[in-house]
Amino acid sequence: MEKLYEGKAKVLFPEGPDTLRVYFKDEATAFNAQKRGLIPGKGVVNNKVSATLFRYLEAHGVKTHFLEEVSDREMRVLRVEILPLEVILRFRAAGSFAKRYGVKEGTLLRAPLVEYSLKSDPLGDPLICPEAILALGLAAEEELSQVRTTTLKVGELLRDFFAQRGLDLIDFKLEFGKRQGEILLADEISPDTMRLWDQKTGEPMDKDRFRKDLGGVEEAYQEVLRRVLRE
Ligand code: TMP
Ligand code: ASP
Repeated sequence: MEKLYEGKAKVLFPEGPDTLRVYFKDEATAFNAQKRGLIPGKGVVNNKVSATLFRYLEAHGVKTHFLEEVSDREMRVLRVEILPLEVILRFRAAGSFAKRYGVKEGTLLRAPLVEYSLKSDPLGDPLICPEAILALGLAAEEELSQVRTTTLKVGELLRDFFAQRGLDLIDFKLEFGKRQGEILLADEISPDTMRLWDQKTGEPMDKDRFRKDLGGVEEAYQEVLRRVLRE
């Protein structure tokens, strides 16, 4: 079937007027695609982890674009108009935050912190403040308020979910879409878009293993899937 769009980690195929099929690839990129590689089995892990988390969040009152798993690497979702924002929630300092402010990785923040980036590959996804989001008309005030509230709620739910599986949720990135005037959680929630540290060893169990050449990338993804499915 002809694709609608191919991104760095996923391919979107059109279905009906209301739905899309998302195919999760094994290709991995980092640093705005300056680093490229393959993580065998990643597509299967990210599809299954995302599907499980979307179902869990739906069960707790979060509205998402997820409909159903179609195959090991594919899910069916509602078509939405994606807001051009990456919404990041941080519990502990890591990655770009630790670097920007000169804070030690792992430092617990006084309260969960919501940050926004403008989704733009040519600009390298720059940080954007809520006032600039409103000034540029990227989201309405009510929409942004809902995005923030939902992100904090998703954060609490996911932190509990992973804590019960021996994983410390450090931070994560969400994307939201609009459909018939409603804001839905969209995109994916996977080891590509979260930082998860093993509670016992402190070892990263996510895409940082690829970004930082730590080794054991495939194994970490498989272990996250195993714990998410509680096998
Ligand atoms: P950062 O510390 O590099 O800004 O990343 C914050 C979180 O967002 C982390 O969980 C990884 C995730 N993330 C993405 O999902 N996509 C991206 O392009 C980047 C840079 C980070
Ligand atoms: N997905 C991002 C990219 O390739 C970066 C990352 O996840 O670190 O640009």
